[in-house]
Amino acid sequence: ANSKTGQLIALHEQAAKLYHHILVNTEMGQPALDYLHNRGLTDATIETYQLGFAPSQRLLKPFFDQRQADYQLLRQSGLFIENQQGELRDRFTARVMFPLRNASGHVAAFSGRVLQKQEDQPKYLNSPETALFTKSRLLFNFDLARPAIREAGEVTLFEGYMDVISAAQAGVLNGIASMGTSLTTEQIYAIERTTDHLNICYDGDTPGQRATQRAIGLLREHSHLALSVIQLPEGQDPDEYRRAHGDEGFRQVMQSAKETPIRFQLRYLRRDRALETDSERLAYLNDAMPLLAQVKEPVALDLYLNQLATEFHLDKDALVAQLKQVRQQAA
Ligand code: GTP
Ligand code: MN
Ligand code: MN
Ligand code: MN
Ligand code: MN
Repeated sequence: ANSKTGQLIALHEQAAKLYHHILVNTEMGQPALDYLHNRGLTDATIETYQLGFAPSQRLLKPFFDQRQADYQLLRQSGLFIENQQGELRDRFTARVMFPLRNASGHVAAFSGRVLQKQEDQPKYLNSPETALFTKSRLLFNFDLARPAIREAGEVTLFEGYMDVISAAQAGVLNGIASMGTSLTTEQIYAIERTTDHLNICYDGDTPGQRATQRAIGLLREHSHLALSVIQLPEGQDPDEYRRAHGDEGFRQVMQSAKETPIRFQLRYLRRDRALETDSERLAYLNDAMPLLAQVKEPVALDLYLNQLATEFHLDKDALVAQLKQVRQQAA
């Protein structure tokens, strides 16, 4: 633990401790603690995730100066911003702090959230890439979730940290999140080493649906994971859903809203389409064919074809014939 990495981790864990202490034990932290309580988080959850607060008054730098921390180490930690003169000052101010732990459970970076949305500020500010932190590799909560993932035989991928934390508070412990909506192949490989089934549960809004569509493509291309999609109603994200429907309602929807990727994709293809004219309906069916052509299970395929035939008043044989054409063209 005397290596550079070990020292950087020690620095991060001290910072996490300090931010957490400010949040739960000080006057300065009170507004942030109220904020988290208002968002429905319990003290136990705040404890488990070591949530913290970086006040507007910069105090991380004086804290480490007092401990005579090495200047180069501080520079390399990403916790500070450096000016022209090489002086360091706290990067995170006036933000609720989410420690980002690596797969071994060590704090490797932070994400800080503003208390109120401001025009000129990003909602979440992340640590820069450092020796400890590669954004494309980190999966939020992977360390804590791993036993639950093994037990459930599946992992649930959320969009945001708050969704993962909210889900865990409701007893859904197998949740992880990538950093934002862009899932990477490195993250997919890490997931695949732990489980063979992944549920995508992104936000129910348009960006979330788009990200779901993208994730399905990426996961199909780069993994053998069995996939399900959990799409929440009314554009809600999982955390909003839990707060609207309670822990029990949340646990239920995580089971009942589970669907096949194809089902999601067929619906996704229909968004913004009126399907009122023949040409609109034909265009939709045309787009749906390549999706159906991917379905390998005969029974599942039959189910989708029957549903389409019924809905569009078609002869199922016509759908089958067209599907055959599409498959031949693809081959
Ligand atoms: P809350 O508003 O706190 O509930 O966050 P959220 O998780 O609902 O955030 P949202 O759906 O807007 O975004 C999902 C994820 O995208 C977040 O958890 C972050 O990882 C990332 N993200 C959102 N906003 C920003 C931002 O301004 N900057 C960066 N770097 N990432 C962001
Ligand atoms: Mn504590
Ligand atoms: Mn979102
Ligand atoms: Mn969200
Ligand atoms: Mn949210």
